[in-house]
Amino acid sequence: MEVVKCIRERRSIRKFDTSKEVSRELIESVIDTARFSPSWKNTQVTRYTVLTGEAKDKVAACTNIWAKNGDIMRNAPIVVALSVVDKRSGYERDGSPSTPLGDGWQMFDCGIAAQSFCLAAFDAGLSTLIMGLYDDNTAEVIGIPEGQILTALIAVGYAAEEPAAPNRKETADLITYKS
Ligand SMILES: Cc1cc2nc3c(=O)[nH]c(=O)nc-3n(C[C@H](O)[C@H](O)[C@H](O)COP(=O)(O)O)c2cc1C
Repeated sequence: MEVVKCIRERRSIRKFDTSKEVSRELIESVIDTARFSPSWKNTQVTRYTVLTGEAKDKVAACTNIWAKNGDIMRNAPIVVALSVVDKRSGYERDGSPSTPLGDGWQMFDCGIAAQSFCLAAFDAGLSTLIMGLYDDNTAEVIGIPEGQILTALIAVGYAAEEPAAPNRKETADLITYKS
């Protein structure tokens, strides 16, 4: 799919077709594309934990903060947990932050990877929902390794709804020109 069309037409999907599985080959092909995302000094700090079955349902229970996310995860065939290797992106070899943004750059890298993931999934006929609302114990429940930070959960599956695009701000309101 043309990249501009993909960016404009991708939607967050909160209802998935429960009769359709997502194969391991397909999710791997999506991650295979997402790994080409840019990253700080090519540190490639984003990691993907693919959750199905019982592992997914355990994470779906970690949603006291926003119960609707739990329902979405139970309904989705796959949830992918994005994590980041801590304190590499945006850091010098001696462990000191390269800029005042500190660990902001690792979230920046993970955000780029998340968008690449969602666009690659959309191109493959899949739909996604990025979720930032989950309980504090979620990383532990998933078993995210020490030295990594859980950054987002992404529900993946075949859409069972066609939501309208939420309003976007006008382009002119987002740009400042200076010369
Ligand atoms: C970092 C991030 C966290 C989000 N967290 C949630 C969430 O916890 N639950 C949810 O239903 N949607 C979540 N969303 C989805 C946004 O609400 C959605 O992207 C936005 O409304 C625009 O809609 P669109 O993705 O269809 O363009 C999140 C999106 C991002 C980028």
